[in-house]
Amino acid sequence: MEYFIKSGNPEKQRVACVIVGIFDRRSLSEAAATIDTASEGAIGSVMRRGDMDGKAGSTLMLHNVPGTFADRVMLVGLGKERNFDEAAYRKAHTAAAKALRQTGAIDAVSYLTHLPVKSRDFQWNVTQAVLATQEVYYRFDECRGAKAREKETPAKLERYTFDVPRRSDLPSGERGLVEALAIDKGVTLAKNLSNLPGNLCTPTYLADEARKLATGSPIKTKILEKADMEKLGMGSLLSVAQGSSQPPKLIVMEYMKGPKTEKPIALVGKGLTFDAGGISIKPAAQMDEMKFDMCGGASVFGTMAAIAELKLPLNVVGIVAATENLINGEATKPGDIVTSMAGITIEVLNTDAEGRLILCDALTYAEQHYEPSFCIDMATLTGACVVALGNVATGLFSNNPALGRSLLAAGDQVGDRAWELPLWADYDENIKSEFADVANIATRGGREAGAIIGATFLHRFTKRMKWAHLDIAGTAWIGKKATGRPVPLLVQYLLNVAARRTESA
Ligand code: BES
Ligand code: MN
Ligand code: ZN
Repeated sequence: MEYFIKSGNPEKQRVACVIVGIFDRRSLSEAAATIDTASEGAIGSVMRRGDMDGKAGSTLMLHNVPGTFADRVMLVGLGKERNFDEAAYRKAHTAAAKALRQTGAIDAVSYLTHLPVKSRDFQWNVTQAVLATQEVYYRFDECRGAKAREKETPAKLERYTFDVPRRSDLPSGERGLVEALAIDKGVTLAKNLSNLPGNLCTPTYLADEARKLATGSPIKTKILEKADMEKLGMGSLLSVAQGSSQPPKLIVMEYMKGPKTEKPIALVGKGLTFDAGGISIKPAAQMDEMKFDMCGGASVFGTMAAIAELKLPLNVVGIVAATENLINGEATKPGDIVTSMAGITIEVLNTDAEGRLILCDALTYAEQHYEPSFCIDMATLTGACVVALGNVATGLFSNNPALGRSLLAAGDQVGDRAWELPLWADYDENIKSEFADVANIATRGGREAGAIIGATFLHRFTKRMKWAHLDIAGTAWIGKKATGRPVPLLVQYLLNVAARRTESA
């Protein structure tokens, strides 16, 4: 499908479908009113018959509306006008896309992009319209048999135009489209990698994908093998990998398109391609979902792909720590003590708290090799974060208030929200070990504040960086489907950093 931005009259569109909004209490949006006038009351009469009352998320398809050139006019319920906010705006586009997907229409023009959303501009309207639509059209069929794939009816829609009110809005609309397509490219890559099962998406597979990402692009990929990790003293990461036959990989992707002297922003992802828990094994129910334990890593891939597409003038390095967490005769045992690359010794009291064990070494690697200006890690780190925030907000932790604020603002802007939890020193008490420098789980307080404890552990290794941690355990997948989060948040953050740069230059 291809998207276009245009400015024209709704009743004059020669397309298969024109899309306009109706507010609850049966009040017409401007575009709907224009069509109503051109058709001498066709929409009004449908509404009087009680077939469309403007309830949020409802749709009604009208055919051969007099006075218009389109085959169909789709009415989309917008909810109450005074409640029309960002969520309602997205919901309208989602409803329109779902209804469009059911029809044979090959082209459509939507006027939902005209609807004013408080403190947002038409660039934002277009970006959100495209992202909401792409979300509806996404499919993951790679793992179905050839026969089943043949049967799938492909989406008919080929051209989808979002209309803006004035010709002078076209440039911002176009910009919104370009950014949305780049974000979507990253989201789709992250979803595809994440949805793949653990037997196919191994650390080696991810390393190959990173090499692919580097071909014909400004990204340079470097893979650190097990032997390299041994040389660097990554005893913590290796202690997780030793229970599996799949070799671990530390995947490094450099995108250096910013000023030569500027330190890069580091993105570090948890790429646990399957987390069985190790000797502290997980219960069987829903264990299949632990194929998603590499979603943090997948978001690094997606973000790198998006910024390369956008050609952002930034230096960014993506690092993905990839391994499995399984059990064999060599697996780490509860009580084992390992030495991290930072020289900090760790008592592994629970082998299922492995994300922090691989991330601490990846974070130390980022710090020592890149001295990043900012370092952000993404991880499906704790079940406790799901308990705290559900699948609405990502958990955010930062030792730098400005960085924390920028990430929260970027998430709000693009509709991929995070919520901050504290990183206060008080919590350090909870990870004291009887034998080593630190324990990998709480040694007091039981299951209290689990997401914060995980972040507190990582903070032991990031004191010398401006650092933020995103716990995406609740947001990276919903049900059995990857969401691609937090790629939108990260890309928006980097877009904002790049924009501030060009302003001050
Ligand atoms: N990958 C899991 C966290 C997780 C669990 C994410 C469920 C999403 C859904 C992580 O490796 C883990 O097992 N964490 C433990 C930590 C605990 C042992 C301190 C957890 O959350 O139970
Ligand atoms: Mn685990
Ligand atoms: Zn895990």
